Amino acid sequence: MLVLGIETSCDETAAALVGDAYAPLANIISSQAEHALFGGVVPELASRAHLRTAVPVVRAALAAAGVGLAQVDGIAVTRGPGLVGSLIVGLSLAKALALAAGKPLIGVHHLEGHIFSNLIEHTLAPPFLTLLVSGGHTELLRVAELGRYERLGRTRDDAAGEAFDKVAKLLGLLPESGSVMGGRIIAELAATGNPRAIGFPRALERDQSLDFSFSGLKTAVLNYVRPLSAEQRQAQLPDIAASFQEAVVDALVGKTLRAMERTGIATVALAGGVAANRRLRARLEEAVGTRGGQLFYPSPVLCTDNAAMIAAAGLFHLSQGRSSGLDLDAAPRLSLSPTHG
Ligand code: KG4
Ligand code: ZN
Repeated sequence: MLVLGIETSCDETAAALVGDAYAPLANIISSQAEHALFGGVVPELASRAHLRTAVPVVRAALAAAGVGLAQVDGIAVTRGPGLVGSLIVGLSLAKALALAAGKPLIGVHHLEGHIFSNLIEHTLAPPFLTLLVSGGHTELLRVAELGRYERLGRTRDDAAGEAFDKVAKLLGLLPESGSVMGGRIIAELAATGNPRAIGFPRALERDQSLDFSFSGLKTAVLNYVRPLSAEQRQAQLPDIAASFQEAVVDALVGKTLRAMERTGIATVALAGGVAANRRLRARLEEAVGTRGGQLFYPSPVLCTDNAAMIAAAGLFHLSQGRSSGLDLDAAPRLSLSPTHG
């Protein structure tokens, strides 16, 4: 089976082809640089950029895989959650291609795509836990079987990636141009800093729930840097970045271990943009390993938003005989239902 995937839920325009066993034949991602000046994604600019690049990106994916639409068995597309104007661009293109080529359309939940990102490179059998940490989401999920998900915990305010992005912005680290990946900049700085230099708060550490909260941490960083002179701030940047990152990692590791205890599931899959964070990977790998479990995570290119994961989830549903009607709507606030498909 061969599935074309299209992802336009936020600020990446992506198209990919995956074949049997979710093998990626092409994975093209065009990141939008136009938001850099604003320090965050501007929805109107995002939809316009998707409009400009979606067709060329799909063409590039087909060319890279060396296939035509006629050889594809289905077209998978992110239907939500995400920015409505951005989702509509991908959906409209997917519907048009499905109609023109006479192929089934498969609407995919963006978070289910992230769950499938681990299946592209690893042989991973349910049940497993997924810690999904991205710019828009922070969730602990139990994957009872593919297509059946239970949310064990989530962030009560900011997502982990959002916290990285906001802290990068308040520290004045975002470049004037280029992509707005605050997490990557903080992680680079943190590599030379002391993670125990500053004792930033660990919210909900003793709370019995599997929820997270990161907005207080962001405020704590702001309160810490406010009284510093420009020179002091500059000198302390690596320590601030490392101490902030450690607080995020502690929260993520702590709740994941608690989820392992509660569910008795020892296999953990990390997904989403923040899963590219080396400190998080290393700390989680050690913690999960010490408890006799195993941690999986995708290559960085499959951590951040991409269409290979959407094609993979689409391929799974298609192989189970499920597809969507051409009246499929964008669902900006779509939730991941216990039985998805
Ligand atoms: O999954 P993704 O591409 O987008 C959403 O669906 O939200 O994740 C993007 C997020 C951004 O917040 C970015 O700052 C964060 O992932 N990120 C990182 C790293 N690389 C990307 N956060 C921490 N460490 C990194 N190395
Ligand atoms: Zn995402």
